[in-house]
Amino acid sequence: MVDIGVLVSGGGTNLQSIIDAIESKKVDAGIKVVISNNPDAFALKRAARHGIPREVILKEDFPTREQYDTELARILKIHDVELVVLAGFMRIITRPMLEAFPMRIINIHPALLPSFPGLNVQKKAIEYGVKFSGCTVHFVDEGVDSGPIIIQAVVPVRDNDTADTLSKRILEEEHRIYPQAIQLYSEGRLCINGRRVIVKGASEPAGVLENPLAAIFAS
Ligand code: GRF
Repeated sequence: MVDIGVLVSGGGTNLQSIIDAIESKKVDAGIKVVISNNPDAFALKRAARHGIPREVILKEDFPTREQYDTELARILKIHDVELVVLAGFMRIITRPMLEAFPMRIINIHPALLPSFPGLNVQKKAIEYGVKFSGCTVHFVDEGVDSGPIIIQAVVPVRDNDTADTLSKRILEEEHRIYPQAIQLYSEGRLCINGRRVIVKGASEPAGVLENPLAAIFAS
């Protein structure tokens, strides 16, 4: 069992997937608090529907990012949070948070890192012409989307994809792997060795993926 705090800024579909996984007992965690920097985030309504405590911390109330993060850490500690889960939280995490929760902050990113860090990455992946994209759950360090990778899921990019259609397909996988990552943490199965995260007891996937399937050399 792990006590988590979820940080949000927007719609909160990832938050919802975590709530659902906890309620259906697939994930052994408790959401102690949901914190938003955006008072209008629909994610706050989702939390309210499930009776989860909510807090809003406005950036305007803090002159620096570090002061904002000091307050964030204080609120998370008040709620006895062990693991901080970023779910569409549109802020860069700075030292006071990293020091308060060393290797205890995770994020989900809608691309196969280290390709396409940052924002609008589904559009960037299409424009670049990659044949696969996907999503990545990783620990948070001082860089942007640069911490040790826990789990990734691969999604093919289709010729007729728009940023919207690709985002939706990636989001479905986000909703699957983010709760899994939290459960792996909860079971104490994540071993961090430098940049590598080894998942104890996990099996390795077989086979290769190829896109497009031109079938030129079909056996
Ligand atoms: C997701 O695509 C996530 O990967 C990114 O922000 C989006 C949040 O979506 N970090 P939601 O608020 O969980 O619906």
